[in-house]
Amino acid sequence: MTQRRSYGGTRSAENACPGSPGERAVDHPWHAALLDVVMWTLKPLREKIVPEAHGRVVEIGVGTGMNFPYYRDIESLHGIEPDPHMLRRARARADRLRLPVELTQAGAEALPYDDASFDTAVVTWVLCTIPDAEAAVREVARVLRPGGRMLFVEHVRSRYTLAGRVQDALTPAWSKLSGGCRLNRDSVDLIRSAAFGNVEARPCGRQTWTIFPICRGSAIRGG
Ligand SMILES: C[S@@+](CC[C@H](N)C(=O)[O-])C[C@H]1O[C@@H](n2cnc3c(N)ncnc32)[C@H](O)[C@@H]1O
Repeated sequence: MTQRRSYGGTRSAENACPGSPGERAVDHPWHAALLDVVMWTLKPLREKIVPEAHGRVVEIGVGTGMNFPYYRDIESLHGIEPDPHMLRRARARADRLRLPVELTQAGAEALPYDDASFDTAVVTWVLCTIPDAEAAVREVARVLRPGGRMLFVEHVRSRYTLAGRVQDALTPAWSKLSGGCRLNRDSVDLIRSAAFGNVEARPCGRQTWTIFPICRGSAIRGG
């Protein structure tokens, strides 16, 4: 697998988000430190989704590597993550698990991989945070082979008017606290309108009286 770019350099270059529009800095030490605690309740969903990955796998926005323990029988694993604080934790987790994963500091808007390089892309709770999520989804389609599968789980915009409005109102403050996460983004709609055919999405868990309705599913890259 050829990587299109490599990202080393000084500390300030390290904290830029390679691949993001304007290569803006992604630098959230507190978010990285708290992520495992904040997201621990989502373990049962990871256990269901991640083992479905097969072949050559790319994970987008690996965070601290919370999905790593659930990969089974895959040929290879590549992951990207723009935030150096997340990446350091992900590397340590991969070492502890003796998981041979190739991690690259990059943003999903310009993935450092050739076209059609992967059989599966794993995208978990990340489209909400990516500044240009449409570009990211197009990039995921590009690096998947025709017939390749994106597995995703995302929190989405509520289909209930009141909850949607609460999401709209809270998003500016929430985004500041949570490393850029937009509560009100409809990530599944975004996947549907990108270069994917055959998108299967189903709500999971509580959908009413919550500002974190979750949807999981898969999307097949058209030929
Ligand atoms: C809520 S965390 C989820 C992490 C991981 N996917 C998981 O399931 O635990 C969102 C992640 O998206 C990453 N992120 C932010 N901007 C990104 C970008 N432009 N491309 C890829 N990932 C990005 C953040 O650094 C963070 O690690």
